[in-house]
Amino acid sequence: MIELTKTGIEGLDSILNGGIVKDSTTLVSGNPGAGKSILGLQYVYNGVDMFDEKGIYLSFEENKADLREAAEAIGFDKWPEYVESGDILVYDKKELLRENDFSSSLDLLLEDFQDNDYERLVLDSLAMFNLFFDDEKERRTYLLKFSDILKQNGLTTLMTNEQGAVFPKADIGLENYLTDGNIYLLQTPTESGVNRYVWVAKMRKQNIETDIFPMEISWGGITVHENASAFSMMNQGESSPIK
Ligand SMILES: Nc1ncnc2c1ncn2[C@@H]1O[C@H](COP(=O)(O)OP(=O)(O)OP(=O)(O)O)[C@@H](O)[C@H]1O
Ligand SMILES: [Mg+2]
Repeated sequence: MIELTKTGIEGLDSILNGGIVKDSTTLVSGNPGAGKSILGLQYVYNGVDMFDEKGIYLSFEENKADLREAAEAIGFDKWPEYVESGDILVYDKKELLRENDFSSSLDLLLEDFQDNDYERLVLDSLAMFNLFFDDEKERRTYLLKFSDILKQNGLTTLMTNEQGAVFPKADIGLENYLTDGNIYLLQTPTESGVNRYVWVAKMRKQNIETDIFPMEISWGGITVHENASAFSMMNQGESSPIK
């Protein structure tokens, strides 16, 4: 029986057929502004708020205050309280970049991972994580090692990844193969704003809905609309969101 970790995001758990496979690592890819960080915040926040599961948020891009503001701006108003109580553990850019090499930073994290108290982890973003490494071989080795450590410690992980195109012209990065799951957030501009979509391209061991579903970002976070008719309505007169 495969255990699942619910994101608690309306619509997303159903298209995932119940949730994310426990102890797996899922890549969340998309353009700037697609909603990757909000998805990560919401996943960790819901963990505490809805499922009594503690989470770790690693941000290579923002500091603690930015994260708190981002969380509060979208309606995760108990974020500061959860950080204060230790239910959400935040490592921000300042802490992660304090050591010169990532292995030293990782050693700091390991203690918390081994605590066994935490069940969810978000790494935002892989692009910044990658900047730690001078050469590709070292980067790949570390990424593998890091994923192993997460799995061993029972952390169900989302890693965000900047990726403009769903099918990039350049080689598809190792991280796409390495991770157990792959979620793409897509957006197309419209006259009145932007249409947003989510596509779960891969989830090992899970029979997922592989259609593209419309989603919204509003107060309270991300909502996924799982009925296809909403999709065709939102998509009327426009070209396919995948280019
Ligand atoms: N309260 C809100 N209501 C509606 N939309 C919002 C709200 N707050 C944020 N957004 C939308 O969410 C988008 C930001 O999402 P997010 O920061 O998660 O993107 P990202 O994919 O992490 O981007 P980046 O690659 O730049 O880090 C904003 O561009 C904005 O359009
Ligand atoms: Mg972001």
